[in-house]
Amino acid sequence: MAFKVAVLLSVFMVTYHLAPLVFTSEIQKPYPISLLIYNSLAIQRNLTFNTEIAYRGILLGAMRKIQSANNDFKFTIEEDPNYGPFLVSVNGVAGNNAEHTYWELLVKLQNGTIIRPDVGVGCYIPNPHDTVILKFSKW
Ligand SMILES: *[C@@H]1O[C@H](CO)[C@@H](O)[C@H](O)[C@H]1NC(C)=O
Ligand SMILES: *[C@@H]1O[C@H](CO)[C@@H](O)[C@H](O)[C@H]1NC(C)=O
Repeated sequence: MAFKVAVLLSVFMVTYHLAPLVFTSEIQKPYPISLLIYNSLAIQRNLTFNTEIAYRGILLGAMRKIQSANNDFKFTIEEDPNYGPFLVSVNGVAGNNAEHTYWELLVKLQNGTIIRPDVGVGCYIPNPHDTVILKFSKW
C-alpha cells in the first residue's frame, strides 16, 4: 500500500514537473563552468580554466578560486560606487580609457548562444556549464 502510494506520488511529481523539488540537495551541488581568456587585440593564445562554482555562486568567487589554483591567471578589479566591482586587468593587461580598451564580459551558454550579461563579475551568477569569456576589446 505504502509502495503504491509512493509510486503514484512519484508519477504525479514527474508528470507535474515537481520531481526536482524532491532532489533539492542534488540540484544545489556545485557545478562546472569554464573561463576563457581572449585578447582580441593581440596575437595570443587563449587560456581556458575549468572550475566548480558553488550553487548560485557569483562569477567573482569562481575567478578568485581559479586565481588561487593557477599561476597563469591573475586579475584585478576596481569597485564602482554604483555598479560594484568591475574587471580592470587580466594577467597584467589593463583596460585603458585613452586607448578605448577594456575587458568585456561575455558568456557562452551550454547551448552555444553567446550573451553579454548586463551586470559585472561581482553580480553575474553563472549557469551550469557556462563558458565565461573575458575578452580584451576596443570600444
Ligand atoms: C579565442 O576564443 C575566441 C572566442 O571563443 C575565438 O573567437 C578565437 O578564435 C580564439 N582564438 C584562438 C587563437 O584560438
Ligand atoms: C539558448 O538558451 C538561451 C537561454 O535559455 C535562450 O535564450 C536561447 O534562445 C537558446 N539558444 C538556442 C540556439 O537554443
